[in-house]
Amino acid sequence: MIDVAEMQPRAGMSKNKFTPLAHEIFTLKKQLNAVILAHNYQVPEIQDVADFVGDSLGLAQQAAKTDADVIVFCGVHFMAETAKILNPNKIVVLPDRDAGCSLEESCPAEKLAALQATNPNFWTIAYINCSAAVKALCDVIVTSGNAEKIVNAAPKDRDLLFVPDENLGQWVMEQTDRKMTLWKGNCYAHVEFQREQVLAAKRQFPDAKIIVHPESLREVRDLADAVCSTEKMITFCKNDSAKRFVIVTESGIIHRMQKECPEKEFLCAPVFNAMKLPTDGCRCSECKFMKMNTLEKVRDCMKNLAPRVELPKEIIERARLPMERMLEISAR
Ligand code: 13P
Ligand code: SF4
Repeated sequence: MIDVAEMQPRAGMSKNKFTPLAHEIFTLKKQLNAVILAHNYQVPEIQDVADFVGDSLGLAQQAAKTDADVIVFCGVHFMAETAKILNPNKIVVLPDRDAGCSLEESCPAEKLAALQATNPNFWTIAYINCSAAVKALCDVIVTSGNAEKIVNAAPKDRDLLFVPDENLGQWVMEQTDRKMTLWKGNCYAHVEFQREQVLAAKRQFPDAKIIVHPESLREVRDLADAVCSTEKMITFCKNDSAKRFVIVTESGIIHRMQKECPEKEFLCAPVFNAMKLPTDGCRCSECKFMKMNTLEKVRDCMKNLAPRVELPKEIIERARLPMERMLEISAR
C-alpha cells in the first residue's frame, strides 16, 4: 500500500501538480477530518488525491485503524460497506452508490442461507467481494491477498464452502490442497481475459513476465509467472529483475506501477498498440463499476456527506466477527 499523503501540497510538493478541484478536496478533507481510501483500480486523478491506495486487504486494514471522523471510500460499494462494518460510528461515504460488483450480485444472502441449511458442517469462507448481509452469514472473510493463509487456518474437521468467486476458490484449492464447495460466481471483467490473448502477448513480448489476478480463468492463470492480489502484483514487479510485465487485471493499476517503477514497462492485457492500450475493441481490462467514480463525485460526496453507507445494527454485529477473524489471521 502506498501512503500518498506525502504527495499532497502540505508535504512540500509543487502546488501546480494539482487541479483546483483537487485543492477543493484537500480543503474538504481538512474540514471534515476525513481520510480518502482508494482502490488500485481507481482512475489516476483519484489515486493522486487519496491518503492510501491499495488492495482490498490493505484498505480494510487502513479502515480498521483510522482515527478520521469521515471515511471517503473510492472503490465499489462492498468496500465502503466493509469500512462501515469496521467503523459503525463513523460516517462512510462513497462517490457513486451504483458502483457495484458482479461477484456481489451473484450471491444473494437468501440463496447462500438456503445452501448453508443443506449441510450443518459447512464452514463458510467469503471473498470480501460480497454484501454485508452475506458477510453476516459467514465464518471468515478472505481477500485475494490472504485467501491462501486463511484457508490453511480453517478447521480441519469442517466442510469448506467458498463464496462467491469460483475462480479464486479454484486457485486457493490448488494452493492449499483443501477441498471446497465453490459458489459459481465470477468477476465479469476478469473472465474476459482469454488464454489466446495472453499467448499472443507472450509471443509479442517474450522477455515480459505475465502477472495475473486470481479472479481470472484457470487457462489464463496457468500461463502466469505470478498469480496474486493487486498489491502483491506491485511488490512483485518492484522486486523482480524483469524490465517488462504484462498485467492481467483491471487497467487502473498501471498508474501506480508506472509511478513506483518508472524504469520498467507495464503492458495492460489483452493486446496493445503504441499507446499500450487494448487494440481489439475489448474493454475487458476495465471494470465498469470501478470506473463510475470521478474526481467530481469524490468532491460532491464530501460536500454532501452522501451517498452514505448505512447498515442495520444486527448485520454490522454479525459481519464484524468474520471480518475481525480475517484481520487477526492476516496479522499472524
Ligand atoms: P484486490 O485488489 O484485493 O486484489 O482485488 C481485486 C478486485 O477485483 C477488487 O474488486
Ligand atoms: Fe467486482 Fe470484478 Fe469490478 Fe473487482 S473488477 S469490483 S471483482 S466486477
